[in-house]
Amino acid sequence: MIFPDYRGRRLRQNDNFRALIRETSISPAHLVYPLFVMPGKGVREEIPSMPGVFRVSVDQLAKEAKECMGLGVNSVILFGLPDKKDSKGSGAHAKDGIIQRSIKELKNTAPNLTVCTDVCLCEYTSHGHCGILIGEVVDNDSTLEVLARVALSHAQAGADMVAPSDMMDGRVAEIRGILDENNFPMVPIMSYAVKYASAFYGPFRDAANCAPQHGDRKSYQMDPANVREALREATLDVEEGADILMVKPAMAYLDVISRLRDEFDLPIAAYHVSGEYAMIKAAAAKGWIDETKVMHESLLSIRRAGADIIITYFAKDMARLLNG
Ligand code: PBG
Repeated sequence: MIFPDYRGRRLRQNDNFRALIRETSISPAHLVYPLFVMPGKGVREEIPSMPGVFRVSVDQLAKEAKECMGLGVNSVILFGLPDKKDSKGSGAHAKDGIIQRSIKELKNTAPNLTVCTDVCLCEYTSHGHCGILIGEVVDNDSTLEVLARVALSHAQAGADMVAPSDMMDGRVAEIRGILDENNFPMVPIMSYAVKYASAFYGPFRDAANCAPQHGDRKSYQMDPANVREALREATLDVEEGADILMVKPAMAYLDVISRLRDEFDLPIAAYHVSGEYAMIKAAAAKGWIDETKVMHESLLSIRRAGADIIITYFAKDMARLLNG
């Protein structure tokens, strides 16, 4: 005889019961909002492929911070568009560089905001690669020293956390070393430990004007086909001193988030990237999907897979929804 299983159905009969047995939740405190900062004054321009996301000048940051914190989104991650680029990406560690000024502005105007910074060279190099080139090839080891200088300059400007996204081998150890030597042992490293060579970064590369001028990032970013490699990358970063491990992109890599969650006890972050945002926005603009519901379901799925932290361009919209 077959007994139908009514247990699930009994427990799912109304909203309150559903909430009672719900396994996963999101709160605005889990979300990190990316901010793109550009030169100029009074600038606030919408990024064409990312509707609702703006590049702003440093003087606009206080307003952005206030809006985020008012919604309960207490963390941001900064990306900079420098005045000028060069082959070595020196704008990335300039004392008065765009990010260094942005950090100071935010710390002065919103001291309780958690300010994370993306540590990479691609926005600052004329060739658009994430490291120093020898010929046409990114040279891992000479890039490390530059990345460490970038991270240190962010810490000196007051950053709460640095997030290296370049994918060079050994950069977490190098950055940890320089931060410790310079009396910043309390600045954590959120490592983009598992960053795939993904086509989902397209809109970001428009936004930050950092598409590689030749070749691609496959020599330093990961093959989307691999998950065991993700565990090796993450293990190295843990050994080198990473405090938080990130998986990027998110939706197409939920299995990777889940594997990392099982294998490591560090906090896990997931980056719901520009292309993931743009797809939802575009389909919603056509009236083909319900933007709010798809946003919620997407971010919830990322949490269910095991992410503690979600970096997302939807952070403010999601917080508005959660706050009712
Ligand atoms: C810099 C960087 C990229 C993103 C975050 N940091 C671009 C890239 O690696 O090509 C992408 C973020 C997004 O698509 O939203 N290395």
